[in-house]
Amino acid sequence: MSLKESGKRDGFTSKFGIIAAAAGSAIGLGNIWRFPYVVGENGGGAFLLVYLGFVLLLGIPVMLSEFVIGRKAKRNTFGAFKEIAPGTLWPIIGVMGIVAAFVILAFYSTIAGWTLHYLYISVINGFQGRDTAELTLMFEKFQISTFLPVFWQMIFIILTAVIILSGVKKGIEKYSKILMPFLLLLLVALSVRSVTLPGSFEGLVFLFKPDFTKLDSTVILGALGQAFFSLSIGMGALITYSSYFPSRTNLSNTAFEVSIADVVIAILAGIAIFPAMFSLGMQPEQGGAGLIFMVLPNVFLQIPGGYFISIAFFILLSIAALTSSISIMEVVVAFLVEEFNILRRYATLITAFAAAFVGVFCTLSWGAFENVTIGGRNIFDMLDFTASNVLLPVGGLLIVIFVGWYMSHADVKDEMSNQGALKLQVFGVFRFLIKFIAPVAIAIIFLNAIGILN
Ligand code: TRP
Repeated sequence: MSLKESGKRDGFTSKFGIIAAAAGSAIGLGNIWRFPYVVGENGGGAFLLVYLGFVLLLGIPVMLSEFVIGRKAKRNTFGAFKEIAPGTLWPIIGVMGIVAAFVILAFYSTIAGWTLHYLYISVINGFQGRDTAELTLMFEKFQISTFLPVFWQMIFIILTAVIILSGVKKGIEKYSKILMPFLLLLLVALSVRSVTLPGSFEGLVFLFKPDFTKLDSTVILGALGQAFFSLSIGMGALITYSSYFPSRTNLSNTAFEVSIADVVIAILAGIAIFPAMFSLGMQPEQGGAGLIFMVLPNVFLQIPGGYFISIAFFILLSIAALTSSISIMEVVVAFLVEEFNILRRYATLITAFAAAFVGVFCTLSWGAFENVTIGGRNIFDMLDFTASNVLLPVGGLLIVIFVGWYMSHADVKDEMSNQGALKLQVFGVFRFLIKFIAPVAIAIIFLNAIGILN
């Protein structure tokens, strides 16, 4: 008997709880850590514009497709495809999602570990009295070391596992609900300080003025990967979450609201970083994965109450990372629990151990394993690239094809309209996007970037 039939399946409760949980998954290090550094590496404004286009035309439709699948099947990512398309190969999408979940957990926990360490540095007032060069050096020394980054990474993975263990309702909903609005406020405050620093205007120009000569197939694939990563789509995290949504949730509105919130937070992070960066005389492509950890301490030092603001910032960023990592770990845990009947406790333990094992290699990418590279990419970059720019877009492509071409029109419509209770205003647009635009666009971007089309 499946969990669904036994009626014991855990679920989300309030409307705000649902949006908060989905937004909690979407909003995380992807917005605040990853977005600024990939914008920096990919030339600024033009990348931003392409990214926004992708969120609107591809991201929101993929997210809504995941919601439709998850809530219809009420199963984990793999089980959902088995339920809707029994006896077919579609559940392979679920397998890909589980692989992607491991890969993402591994490198995500590296950066979350850095965040926890920077929280600790904030608490001990460790930025005080250091200039820009010293702050950069402090980060670089930490990044290449062995013990501390791995230690904090393990703490993060344990925290994620503890929340997962407390179950869906009590765990995810409670932690997601309260804190995101505070993060938004803090980012506004940091942005205000950043744009009022001397020489900061160039940063806004970099972020908002598109220079289309900067676009090539790699940059475009990067924008697609960033859109998918940031929205948590393409690997079934939102299939898993929407399997816990009640039948009254308005799926289209939820997809729209979550995506808008996600974009707003990313752009705010950009405004907090780039003006400050130009003011400090740093180059946008310079920071790499360490960008925010090098730039933001400089901003904290120039803000009244910076000591407290830096603590609050790293606490909130850690929590944003947690509400995202639980959505990633939940994909694997729900799969193990529902498909193999493993107790939730053990499923969580197995997943956490496996993620920690792969994760250590990521964390040591700049230190002990710096010589392990493929095509100039270290282990961290390889895993990030494989997940964000390959697994998620391919997963998203298959998901829209599944909803657009395999599922019946009537089923999709029933799910989106809550069995006819809601009036569907944009159904035609959505259908057109998932049947034609999204599959063709993703395929072209992808083939172009790996050089098959040219
Ligand atoms: N979107 C999250 C962030 O921006 C990360 C994340 C959570 C994710 N769940 C995911 C990324 C599923 C890809 C797929 O930090």
